[in-house]
Amino acid sequence: MSKQHSSGRPGKLPRADNGLSADEIRSGLQSRFWREIVCCQSVSSTNDIGLSLPLDLDYEQGETGVVIVADTQEKGRGRFARTWVSPPGLNMYLSIVLKPDITPAEAPCLTILAALASAAALLSETGIRVSVKWPNDLLMGGKKLGGILTEARTLKGVMTRAVIGIGINLNSTAEDLPPEIAGKATSVLIESSTTVSRNRLTTAIMNEFEFRYKKLRAIGVFPLIRELRPLLGCLGREVVVMDGAAKLSGIAEDIDDKGRLVLRLPSGLRKIISSGEISEQGVDRC
Ligand code: BTN
Repeated sequence: MSKQHSSGRPGKLPRADNGLSADEIRSGLQSRFWREIVCCQSVSSTNDIGLSLPLDLDYEQGETGVVIVADTQEKGRGRFARTWVSPPGLNMYLSIVLKPDITPAEAPCLTILAALASAAALLSETGIRVSVKWPNDLLMGGKKLGGILTEARTLKGVMTRAVIGIGINLNSTAEDLPPEIAGKATSVLIESSTTVSRNRLTTAIMNEFEFRYKKLRAIGVFPLIRELRPLLGCLGREVVVMDGAAKLSGIAEDIDDKGRLVLRLPSGLRKIISSGEISEQGVDRC
């Protein structure tokens, strides 16, 4: 683990690592699954790069992937067209590009896969245990540590490309967080007084992702759902879900085999929700 422990004064810690390096990231990979690692200084958004990579990069379906990491993003984005603030030198901005052999309806599984890979990598590299707020947030102590934005291109119902963007606040201090999210967001440094090597964490995420992705292709989604359940803070709790313009209340009962939320409505009916925003009756710890 390349982490540095605090002297008890987070403000005096070395703020980041020695910069992103494709060679360093590659040196810890478990296999040759990853065809390319693209390290950028400044981009609009790593997801934009992933979506616009030339198609003549021959992605054998499902057999390989490309990773893009950036030091900073000028137009980092989250779900619902929100801005993802992406200061240089501190945090993780990473996109995985795949041509997965799954149906567009199964795309939420990729978000779950990325959340599980990120959670496992954070645990191994920093000792931090995160929870997952369905469908795409990584939480620590009820605050948002990271998020995942999966964007897909399809042609005639077939997924031609999936770009899975992962943003994790690593070495930001409380002062680095924009005031509008300061009370709701956190970072590894804030939570654990530990700085994280972005190269090491990138490698760990890639290895953890590859492991689960191969399992998904070989035996399906059930191992992912099984791994996800204990990380979800909301199961069995009363939640409010924004499903488009509709606001639904109910008990978050389960996640189904397509990664969708199963909500038990007060009427007793079950409602399956494939994407939305969840909160626990005013508390943001789902
Ligand atoms: C969310 O919580 O709404 C999702 C945030 C996703 C942020 C990451 S950072 C890397 C990639 N590039 C982007 O512009 N967004 C994702």
